[in-house]
Amino acid sequence: MTHAFDKNYWEQHWDDRTSHFVAANPYLVDETAAMTPGTALDAGCGAGAEAIWLAEQGWRVTGADISAAALATAAGQSEAAGVDVTWMEADLTTWNPDERWDLVMTHYAHPTIPQLDFYRHIAQWVAPGGSLLIVGHLHDGAQHHSHMGTPPDDATVTAKDITALFDATAWRVDTAAERSRTVVGTGVHSKTLRDAVVRVTSLQP
Ligand SMILES: C[S@@+](CC[C@H](N)C(=O)[O-])C[C@H]1O[C@@H](n2cnc3c(N)ncnc32)[C@H](O)[C@@H]1O
Repeated sequence: MTHAFDKNYWEQHWDDRTSHFVAANPYLVDETAAMTPGTALDAGCGAGAEAIWLAEQGWRVTGADISAAALATAAGQSEAAGVDVTWMEADLTTWNPDERWDLVMTHYAHPTIPQLDFYRHIAQWVAPGGSLLIVGHLHDGAQHHSHMGTPPDDATVTAKDITALFDATAWRVDTAAERSRTVVGTGVHSKTLRDAVVRVTSLQP
């Protein structure tokens, strides 16, 4: 049975969570290694591990999410870590901020709108010369209809689908990769995540 990835779904998701990964996504760590810290937006920041890690590296970070429950956890984690992050409750599918960021990033955010439309929408918020980092669940060709363990089909993407969004006259593709990694949860289970990782840079002066 499939369902909408709406605010109710995500509030329930975060209310039900009793533990959170504390380590930042390794692709964020790799992809920002050579960047000079500036301003950053984490679109769909969840419990805040990536936003907090980036703030610890000297970036001025805004973490935005549709779920108040996720943001409450994130705020607790940033306070415990002693870093400043601006937490913002917003539905990013309709949000129209005036601000632009040197880095806009998103990890596994899947909203109610099609995945690629979401990436196109958040790309507008990259400052001239800035970067967009997308980490998404990889579309592996199999049909998945449930969120139990595997993401449903419409929440998955390929690196090729993502890079096709970016006109070569306006964006440079720095990374377009499909990767696997094993994560270990707080229980006995570990699982393999297959990801599409794309980083593009705005060519606007
Ligand atoms: C699978 S979680 C990933 C969280 C975090 N980025 C991570 O990697 O652990 C997806 C996140 O996207 C958020 N999200 C989904 N739809 C959204 C929307 N329309 N606007 C803002 N955030 C949204 C959810 O609340 C959730 O925190």
